[in-house]
Amino acid sequence: MATTLDKTSPIVIRTAEPQDCAQVYKLMRELAVHLKCEQDMKLTIEQFYKDVFEDKPVCYCIVATTAGDPSTIVGYSLYFHTYYYLAGFSISMENLYVSQSHRGKGIGKMLWQEVTRRGLEMGSNGTLIFVDNWNKPTKDWYMKHGCVDYTESKDQHYMHFSRKAMEVFIKNGQ
Ligand SMILES: CC(C)(COP(=O)(O)OP(=O)(O)OC[C@H]1O[C@@H](n2cnc3c(N)ncnc32)[C@H](O)[C@@H]1OP(=O)(O)O)[C@@H](O)C(=O)NCCC(=O)NCCS
Repeated sequence: MATTLDKTSPIVIRTAEPQDCAQVYKLMRELAVHLKCEQDMKLTIEQFYKDVFEDKPVCYCIVATTAGDPSTIVGYSLYFHTYYYLAGFSISMENLYVSQSHRGKGIGKMLWQEVTRRGLEMGSNGTLIFVDNWNKPTKDWYMKHGCVDYTESKDQHYMHFSRKAMEVFIKNGQ
């Protein structure tokens, strides 16, 4: 169902539908280029479709469109359930992206607010957000609205254990 945070806004924020998959995936690739990690993008569109739009989604997606052109996606965000031992049930916001031509119009903030609203409704006790160290404007914006930088305050590192490494780990453990 479509939702707008502000009835007078020309921007519509809504849950992504299966027919949005290709456009969101394209924006996701744009984000990977922007974040200088396109070469690391292993997620296929087929897998993304399964993860978000099939029976038991492991990830949720919201999109932004303009009211005048409801079939063109101009921004998106992903979020999913996670668990943080210090707080309990939380959500992770993975990707917040607005296409270049639509930046600076409040769309990114509306997407983040909608993820936040949905998280609160689900009973989430916080949101985990990852942002690249070089992406200072976005980092500062998150912090301006109350995010705390755990990399600094808790001296934590964000680790990734790839599927390949997981398989080797199990195989070697036998
Ligand atoms: C980060 C991003 C999602 C923000 O989306 P956006 O629609 O351009 O942002 P908004 O227009 O909602 O503005 C966000 C804030 O920045 C401010 N802002 C926007 N454009 C600005 C500008 N040119 N100069 C100064 N401040 C600006 C807004 O006032 C707003 O601040 P507020 O929350 O105090 O009102 C968007 O820039 C983007 O997709 N960037 C590339 C991807 C990325 O870095 N994503 C985040 C990490 S995954």
